[in-house]
Amino acid sequence: MNGLEGLYDGREQTLAKHEVLRRYLQRFAFIIGSWSQSITYVDCYSGPWDERSEEFADTSFGIAIEQLRAAKRDLGMEIRLRCFFIERNKEACRKLENFVSRFDDIEIETRNADFENSISDILKFVRADSKTFPFFLIDPKGWSIPLDVIRPLLECQPGEVLITFMLEFIRRFVEHPEPVIQRTFDALYGETGIAKKFRDLRGDARDDALLHEYLQRVKRAGGFELASSSLVLHPQKARKHFNLVYLTRHHRGIEVFKEAEKAAMQAMESARAAAAQRRRQSGGQMEFLDAEDMHNDTYFNGLRVRHLSSISDKLMRLLQTHSELMYDDLWACGLESPLIWPTDISAQMLKWRDSKVIAMHGMKASERVPKTRSQHRVSLVGGAGA
Ligand SMILES: C[S@@+](CC[C@H](N)C(=O)[O-])C[C@H]1O[C@@H](n2cnc3c(N)ncnc32)[C@H](O)[C@@H]1O
Repeated sequence: MNGLEGLYDGREQTLAKHEVLRRYLQRFAFIIGSWSQSITYVDCYSGPWDERSEEFADTSFGIAIEQLRAAKRDLGMEIRLRCFFIERNKEACRKLENFVSRFDDIEIETRNADFENSISDILKFVRADSKTFPFFLIDPKGWSIPLDVIRPLLECQPGEVLITFMLEFIRRFVEHPEPVIQRTFDALYGETGIAKKFRDLRGDARDDALLHEYLQRVKRAGGFELASSSLVLHPQKARKHFNLVYLTRHHRGIEVFKEAEKAAMQAMESARAAAAQRRRQSGGQMEFLDAEDMHNDTYFNGLRVRHLSSISDKLMRLLQTHSELMYDDLWACGLESPLIWPTDISAQMLKWRDSKVIAMHGMKASERVPKTRSQHRVSLVGGAGA
């Protein structure tokens, strides 16, 4: 695993998060760098946190710096690279400052401060370069960042945002009796009494609703046309840990994010398999088969099947309530969900078309599969409500 062996043992969830970030930023920096003169990366909760690599290869800021510099080198263009890092912990911030001081090809500012009190500093830094394209990573240790606090960052145009949604904590507080916790929960979603909306739901249905509602709210708060999410599982248990929520204004962003997610899910499952094998072998009994051959992927596969089925229901409901829809809109709606890839959406369309459930319009005779940004349209055979 490209020099990262052992760095994530026992914290495989961080590997999955970092794989999404690494793979996404690799393409992001290349794509944005090919037309923009400047890229600004803002890490709102930088760390380092629980790092093992002396070179900080297992930290979000280390990954971002590496990917930004690689894109600039590979493009061979004069891109202005800028980073803003915020870290509350004094000792962690000292390590961060020490590390970043070695890079003289990036304009870097650090703050040993609370993120919540640094919003105006972040905006000032971003706005100091009117030609820059900012990317914000909001990856707190806890679960609650008020929507109103992050709103000014979400509103930055251009701009993209990646937020860690701490599902495992958040779901615990839906029914919490403490008014202070309830107020914090409300602030996360930006609405008083929002928890009521989730109380009649249970299990996966509640998890899905918590994520969906959050995604819609941050999307709306920033005026984003598009959003997506991915899922990170608990390293050792058949349990969801957290989600990553991604916000963009470009179709291409969703495609790149989904490619990053798909590859990261493979890395996550390999790491979970290795973790399970290490645990089994800790008693001294060695196994002959590879960790991946021994891995029980029922939980992961079950979640994917569940998402596929709920997306199919959701798209059908959309078709039933519209006489005709742009394929782009169905695509974007389906890809908001974790564990759904672009090929799943086109496969679903082909299945429905072949069974004469839908008709596709605006496609050339030579085109078999619907495409985004091509004015392809979809309607139910027999019309909406059929
Ligand atoms: C989950 S860790 C971030 C890890 C980092 N993004 C990564 O992936 O490598 C959260 C970090 O935020 C710091 N932190 C916690 N509360 C903070 C706050 N209010 N403002 C800024 N930093 C904070 C913690 O000290 C910790 O280093």
